[in-house]
Amino acid sequence: MNILVIGGGGREHAIIWKLSQSKDVDTIYCIPGNGGISDIAECVAMDVDNTSDLLDFSARKHIDLVIVGPENPLAEGIVDMFEKKGVPIFGPNKRGAMIEASKIFAKELMRQYGIPTAAFRVFDRYDDAGRYLGSLTPPYVIKADGLCAGKGAYVIQDQEEGRSVLSDLMVKGIHGDAGKKIIIEEFLPGIEASYLAFTDGTSMLSLLTSQDHKPLLDGDNGPNTGGMGAYTPIPFVNEAVERDIKARIMERTIAAMREKGIVYKGVLYGGLMLQESDPYVIEFNARLGDPETQPILFKMESDLLPILMACIEGKLHRINDIKWKEGVSICVVVASKGYPDKPEKGFVINGLERLKERRDVMVFHAGTKKADGRYYTSGGRVLGVTAIGSSYEDAMKRVYEAVSMVEFDGMHYRKDIGAKALAKKV
Ligand SMILES: Nc1ncnc2c1ncn2[C@@H]1O[C@H](COP(=O)(O)OP(=O)(O)O)[C@@H](O)[C@H]1O
Ligand SMILES: [Mg+2]
Repeated sequence: MNILVIGGGGREHAIIWKLSQSKDVDTIYCIPGNGGISDIAECVAMDVDNTSDLLDFSARKHIDLVIVGPENPLAEGIVDMFEKKGVPIFGPNKRGAMIEASKIFAKELMRQYGIPTAAFRVFDRYDDAGRYLGSLTPPYVIKADGLCAGKGAYVIQDQEEGRSVLSDLMVKGIHGDAGKKIIIEEFLPGIEASYLAFTDGTSMLSLLTSQDHKPLLDGDNGPNTGGMGAYTPIPFVNEAVERDIKARIMERTIAAMREKGIVYKGVLYGGLMLQESDPYVIEFNARLGDPETQPILFKMESDLLPILMACIEGKLHRINDIKWKEGVSICVVVASKGYPDKPEKGFVINGLERLKERRDVMVFHAGTKKADGRYYTSGGRVLGVTAIGSSYEDAMKRVYEAVSMVEFDGMHYRKDIGAKALAKKV
C-alpha cells in the first residue's frame, strides 16, 4: 500500500514510524514532513490547504490511504474531498470535525445527551457576555468557539482579567471569527487526562490513558504551549472509572453524533477532568493528540494499519483489542530557545546518532529539517524524546538520560514529565 500522511510534527513522525513496520506498507509520503520523517518517508513540500493539489498528488502516486494528523484540514473538510474521489482517508468528515472545531457544537451536544461536562452559557454579543460575567465569581473559564491553535481557552482568576479577555475576543477580535462567539463555563478542579479511542462511527477501540503537560515550566508553571510532554498509562484511572468514561462519555458521544446523522470515523479524543471517580469532558479533539501519540504508539505492539483501515471500512468490531508493550512510556518535548513566543531556529542538533541503536528510546522529530546529513532546528517544539521503562521511575530515568545526550543551542525542556504519576497527584 502507498500511504500519504498529512502533517509534519512529532505526532506524524510517530504515526509514520509505526506504519513503516507494517508488512503491507510500500511507500509512505508525508506533506510536509520534517527532518526525522525524511529518514523513513518521502517528504513533499506542498501546501496542505491546497486540496486540489493534494488530490492530484494522491492520484499520481496511487495513494491507497491518507491519514490526516492536525485538526485544521479536518475542519476544512479534507476528508469529504478525498471520500468524494473514492480515496480511503482516516479522520472524521467536516461535520464530524465540528466536535473540535466548534466548542459550542460540542457543548450543546453534551448537554443534549447528558454527557458530563462543566455548566456553560453561550454568547454572541459582548454586552450580554459582560453582564453575565458581572454576576460570576472567579475562577471561571472563557473559551472562543472556533479553532485557535490551543490559545482560545482562558482560565480566569479575577474579574479584571475576565473583562479584558472578553474584550480581546469580542471587541478586538484577536482570534478573528473563531472568537466571535464564546462560551463562559464553570471551572472544574481535578486531574486532567486524555482518553483516546479509534472509532468507525459505531464501534470503539480505546487507546491507553495518557496525560499531556501544557504549561511550559516544571510544576505546571508558565504560559501554555502545544504540549511539553506526555506519558502513558496514567495511574489515576481504575477499571470502574474507565468503564464509566467509555460508556457515559465516549460511546455516548459517538452514538449522539450518529443520531445527528454524522458517522464519526477516526480518533475521538476526550480531554477529561477527573474528580475523584467522576470524569467530566473539558473538550473533544477530532484527531490524535500531540505529544500523547508519541508515547502511546511507542508502546503499541499491534499493527496500526489494520485498525486504521477497519475504522474507514466500518469494520472496527472485527478487531478485538490492541496489544501493548509492558511498562510505562514517556515523551519529553525538547523545545527551542524562545518557545512558545518567539522560537529561534536554525541550530545544529547533535547527539541523535548515539540514540538510534536504542530499543527503549525513540526520538520523534517535530520542528527539524535535514540538510547535508545533519539535522537543524526549524520550529518551537523540536524533538519528542520518548522512552519505555518497567516503571514510572525507570521510564523517567531512561528518558532523561536520553534527553541529556541530545544537544542544540538554547534547548530547554521540562524535567518533571512522569512525576505526577509518581506522586499520584495533579
Ligand atoms: N472548565 C474547565 N475547568 C478547569 N480547567 C479548564 C476548563 N476548561 C479548560 N480548562 C483548562 O484550559 C485548558 C485548555 O482548554 P481546552 O478546552 O482544552 O481548550 P484548547 O485545548 O482548545 O485550548 C485545559 O487543558 C484545562 O487545563
Ligand atoms: Mg485542550
